[in-house]
Amino acid sequence: MSRTVARAAGPLWGSASVPGDKSIGHRALLLGALAEGTLNVRGLSDGQDVRSTRSCLEALGVRFEEGGRFLAVHGAGAAGLKAPARALDCGNSGSTMRFLMGVLAGQPFESELTGDASLSRRPMERVAAPLRAMGADITLSEGHAPVRLRGRRPLKGASYRLPVASAQVKTALLLAGLYADGETTVEDPFGTRDHTELMLAFLGADCRSDDGRVTVRPGALRSGKAMTVPGDPSSAAFLAAAAVLVPGSRLIIREVLLNPTRLGFFEALREMGAPVSWERGGLHGREVVGDVTAAHGRLKPCWLDAARVPGLVDEVPLLAVLCAFADGESRLEGLAELRVKESDRLAGTAAALTALGASARVDGDALVVAGPARWRPGRVETLGDHRLAMASAVAALAGAGPVELSDADCAAVSYPSFFDDVKGLGA
Ligand code: S3P
Repeated sequence: MSRTVARAAGPLWGSASVPGDKSIGHRALLLGALAEGTLNVRGLSDGQDVRSTRSCLEALGVRFEEGGRFLAVHGAGAAGLKAPARALDCGNSGSTMRFLMGVLAGQPFESELTGDASLSRRPMERVAAPLRAMGADITLSEGHAPVRLRGRRPLKGASYRLPVASAQVKTALLLAGLYADGETTVEDPFGTRDHTELMLAFLGADCRSDDGRVTVRPGALRSGKAMTVPGDPSSAAFLAAAAVLVPGSRLIIREVLLNPTRLGFFEALREMGAPVSWERGGLHGREVVGDVTAAHGRLKPCWLDAARVPGLVDEVPLLAVLCAFADGESRLEGLAELRVKESDRLAGTAAALTALGASARVDGDALVVAGPARWRPGRVETLGDHRLAMASAVAALAGAGPVELSDADCAAVSYPSFFDDVKGLGA
């Protein structure tokens, strides 16, 4: 459904919290499902992507039980998954599909993974090829879903260097490694997010990281534990950005994940001169958590080199919006992976900014944004992409509004209460 977002009538003020981290939510459900015992998970995201992981696992015979503020994941154990009666629908979620490819590669049955139109356009060969080398039989349709798998147990242990900066590919191989006949090593020269490694260790797996190389050995995972999912920094980023852009604002966002592999957006914002800070509060499992504070401030342009993209890969559309408010020209480099996200986010971000009067152009794999924009009201094609919708909403609140978003409901993929939360903070 389309939605029109007006300029903020006043500052955003007070304290806020955001849904549980999406990346950790997927991993908690999946690894809890493969473990022996029950994993009690608090603060799980209610976004559609995490729901997709849950419903696929239910179709594989995993039992979940709602209990107060916890969701109990009753682990099936390494060998306990059942052949599904029908194709597993991963919805819009690339993580669900790629992580399940890793798990299903090691199951002694056939399965099929499908997704929506966006997911069916995303590249799956990057996961299928190394899993085939480990012994799984995987068929794609010209590199895309539907994914048909015939698993094998044991798989062959592998040593693999990531050719693209993808924590999803790394995770798929580490999960397959749990079903291998020996150790599996993934070399990650990009420093992608490390939640899988941390959660495998939390659940007792023999998983070690050293100098960009992660090694996992087959063996049982054991839960019998409780964990709280920290707030999603990729969702907190939208609130922080709105606070930086709307005059007079000041927000504290509580209990946000502060894993160093996920802080790239806040670091870039601080380098642009924004009054943004974060304070380490403690650990949830093995993940660092704390509060993020953001207040209104003027922005300098941003120069982002490719090596920093994995630390803020999902926040690039939002960073580009901030660049359009900065004094001068910004250049964000190394954005090729954005072309294969939920939409072509490189083209989609440039088009959204241009539709609202900003100067933005794609230059090879880079995005060049000249600020400050001369905003004008307009309509943005969100391409059904949650991050494009919310980034455009922030542009609207901060000066471009009223802005019509062609599809705003897609925010529910990661942050169902986004529009209500922004209103509740005074905008
Ligand atoms: C994710 C990794 C990233 C990110 C996605 C979640 C994860 O994808 O964009 O939203 O949880 O591992 P890639 O690994 O494909 O870059």
